Amino acid sequence: MTEAILLVGGQGTRLRPLTITTPKPLLPVAGVPVTVHQIERARDAGVTRIVLGTSYRAEVFAERLGDGRDLGVEIAYAVEDEPLGTGGAIRHAAALLTCGPGDPVMVLNGDVLSGVDYGALLAGHVASGAALTLHLTRVDDPTAYGLVPTDGEGRVLAFREKPQTPEEIVTDQINAGCYVFTRSVIDEIPAGRPVSVEREVFPRLLERGVLVRGVVDDAYWLDLGTPWDFVRGSCDLVRGVAPWSGHAAAESLLLEGAQVDDAALVGGGTAVGRSARVIGDAVVQGSVLLDGCTVEPGARVVGSVVGEGARVCSGASVVDSVIGDGAVVGPGNELRHGARVWPGVELPPTSVRFSSD
Ligand code: GDD
Ligand code: MG
Repeated sequence: MTEAILLVGGQGTRLRPLTITTPKPLLPVAGVPVTVHQIERARDAGVTRIVLGTSYRAEVFAERLGDGRDLGVEIAYAVEDEPLGTGGAIRHAAALLTCGPGDPVMVLNGDVLSGVDYGALLAGHVASGAALTLHLTRVDDPTAYGLVPTDGEGRVLAFREKPQTPEEIVTDQINAGCYVFTRSVIDEIPAGRPVSVEREVFPRLLERGVLVRGVVDDAYWLDLGTPWDFVRGSCDLVRGVAPWSGHAAAESLLLEGAQVDDAALVGGGTAVGRSARVIGDAVVQGSVLLDGCTVEPGARVVGSVVGEGARVCSGASVVDSVIGDGAVVGPGNELRHGARVWPGVELPPTSVRFSSD
């Protein structure tokens, strides 16, 4: 039996207003919560029991995932009264682990879409005898992540969370938010207070000189922390760019009860939510349409999220923007450049326009 801890307690502030009602890990990416994508991949790698470390909107997880039976794993819930941070959450969740001190425990950030081979990470960790194994990936701009330089043998040399100065940017290798801990190392994390695994636990382990391994690869990897990455992750899954076992690559994904009229143009990996409607000659490219929303004739939606039950009216144009649940973008409006419409807000006709100069 192999166990894992999934960290799903963050507030997802950068994804507001989508995360006002739904915690980030449960937002549907190609119609399926990112947590479910992760659980299925962990299960396929031999993980049989998963402890969810929850805090923000904890109850919604149990409602959605139950005891895990439908997903073929056992799920237990560790609920923090106050957010304990990543390290505190791991320590708190470990009370529900059943494995012994020498066993490997996989820990996953709950907002990452990843193609890494979890099974190989687990096996490599056990074979190495390391205290901790970190999955690393390379990104163009590492400043929003944890920087992790390694030596020629893959030994981690330092851990620098979200570097602030150019001198600190010593590598393009970043923490991919997937770890294998030897259980006894988790039990050493201070209990009952907030602890950051990135700012406290990892640097302390390195100071002590224990073996921390970094495994770098080129597998698909994306943190879904912002609306634009969330949209990209969803489209990548639909288009078969991101790994999704059993899914046939397509230009669009129509979920149950979705309606797309013949004259409509829907593509670029767009997911059309349950009972959502794309009417007449509307155009939707590279977007996420959540359940029950409507895009009316002549409207255009590109690179955006349209919330549950929201409506984009005739002739409106929504580009790189987020429309909250139940909001209405009145006819003729033009939204651009990261605009966010809060849930339930109704924009009167042509109230937002952009000039081309
Ligand atoms: N239970 C619990 N309690 N979970 C938490 C808490 C908490 O207090 N705080 C954060 N989490 C969860 C979040 O839900 C998320 O799944 C994960 O921990 C990481 O938090 P983020 O807020 O998404 O962190 P980040 O994306 O800025 O940075 C982290 O991930 C990067 C890779 O995606 C760090 O681990 C970086 O080092 C890393 O590069
Ligand atoms: Mg994140």
